[in-house]
Amino acid sequence: MTKSFFSNLYWKIAATLLLLMVVIGCAYVFITADTVQRYFQEKNQRLNAELAAHVVKEVKPTYLHGKVDEASMDKIMHSMMAINPSIEVYLLDVDGNILNYVAPYKKVKLDKVGLGPIHEFIETKGQQFIKGDDPRNPGIKKEFSAATIDEEGQLIGYVYVVLASEEYDIAAHDLIGNYIMRLGGKTMIITLLTALLMGLMIFWLITRYLNQIIKSVKRFKEGHLKERIPVKSSGELKTLAVTFNEMAEEILNSMEKIKTTEKLRRELVANVSHDLRTPLSVIHGYVETMLMKAQTITSEQQKQYLETILKSTERLKKLVGDLFELSKLEAHEITPKKEPFFITELVQDVSQKHKLIAEEKNLTIVPVVDNNVPMVHADISLIERVLQNLMDNAIKYSTDGGVITIETHNHGNNVEVKVTDTGQGIPEEDIPLVFDRYFNLSKSASGVLKDQDLVAKSSVGLGLAIVKKILEIHNATIHLTSKLNKGSSFSFRLPVYQVIKPVKV
Ligand SMILES: Nc1ncnc2c1ncn2[C@@H]1O[C@H](COP(=O)(O)OP(=O)(O)OP(=O)(O)O)[C@@H](O)[C@H]1O
Ligand SMILES: [Mg+2]
Repeated sequence: MTKSFFSNLYWKIAATLLLLMVVIGCAYVFITADTVQRYFQEKNQRLNAELAAHVVKEVKPTYLHGKVDEASMDKIMHSMMAINPSIEVYLLDVDGNILNYVAPYKKVKLDKVGLGPIHEFIETKGQQFIKGDDPRNPGIKKEFSAATIDEEGQLIGYVYVVLASEEYDIAAHDLIGNYIMRLGGKTMIITLLTALLMGLMIFWLITRYLNQIIKSVKRFKEGHLKERIPVKSSGELKTLAVTFNEMAEEILNSMEKIKTTEKLRRELVANVSHDLRTPLSVIHGYVETMLMKAQTITSEQQKQYLETILKSTERLKKLVGDLFELSKLEAHEITPKKEPFFITELVQDVSQKHKLIAEEKNLTIVPVVDNNVPMVHADISLIERVLQNLMDNAIKYSTDGGVITIETHNHGNNVEVKVTDTGQGIPEEDIPLVFDRYFNLSKSASGVLKDQDLVAKSSVGLGLAIVKKILEIHNATIHLTSKLNKGSSFSFRLPVYQVIKPVKV
């Protein structure tokens, strides 16, 4: 299909080129013939410009008192025509009417010759190429020579000599035709052949590259996604090749992205089902034990079992809640409802709420409040969620006697919020991973977390992923610095609320 398409295209172009060449060749021959003919006519007129004046000189004595001495004039004119058979001599009166002529073998069809060209010829002294009427061929213009006949200072007529008689025309036509055909024919054949050969070669090169492009596109379509068009030549075909290659790259990237997303989705489903299964099986196990051993277990054991069940249900609730929140954030279903508020107040609030849990672990929360910090423009409840998650982590991953600092700083157009702890810290290689959903250090260290640990720690691994997403929809980013066994510091910036002053009219 491709091959026949291209050979068709190639021959179509070749035929068009050939036709074009023939048209150009014909035009060339026509223009050359016309120019040569004009050259000979003009040359003929210039050379014979004086001819009519010469005839007048000879005729004048025979033109006595306004009457033509036909016998002597015939003699002179015939002798002139015998010397130069290419001419026809006419005697005209002042109005251009033909009085006498020398054209013995042919019929003269016009009675009158137009005086316009004759006057022009006499005025320019024959130095300009002018054509006049041909009395034998009405409607056809011929080069001529003309002169006035004057008697005693009075204009009494004209001598009008047609320089290209019919005999001359036939001879010239044959010769010109012959020469032009030989000269034009040779030139045309050489030019045509060279142009045709070169044209065919160029088209062959172009179609060959086009063929290559089609082949690559077809291979790509058939699934050879690494196929690219070799970028040769320049101009449009190069643009086509480059654009196709870029498009192929885009398609490949998009496919890679889809594959990665699909892989993540599968992982997510696996993780979610695992995380949901764990607390569920704990609940199931304890409920079953309590039912089976209802008669034998002590009330102390019963309390312990119920507490474990409660923790598992809390974890389930948190997991489902967090997953729901994260998927809404990822699906862009949550848009921040931005409003101006004092971040320092929010910081105080969150510190207060976490104070009790911190004290239980013998941790101190230090809110560093700078009263010069202006209002920020953000979604207050979403930012509260961010602070809660960061504080939760700081408490969860800090050890006895640790200090948690939560501070705000004014940075011109932004306010920086920073939560720092003196806890266990994060290994350097894990720092870029902690914002991934389901990332959990205890999991990464030991592979899989034990069910009991998981329940106890109530860690889902979604907290920082939620933080990152919330800040993303605020066009903000979270920064983390951490040192193992020294502590971690999480910070982000929010834009300052700009008061728009009303314009005074
Ligand atoms: N302040 C911190 N100090 C040390 N490690 C931390 C700190 N904050 C987070 N991490 C590490 O990053 C991991 C991811 O934190 P993230 O908050 O996303 O999950 P999580 O706390 O395990 O579970 P949850 O979904 O309940 O928040 C944690 O498991 C922990 O290993
Ligand atoms: Mg957390």
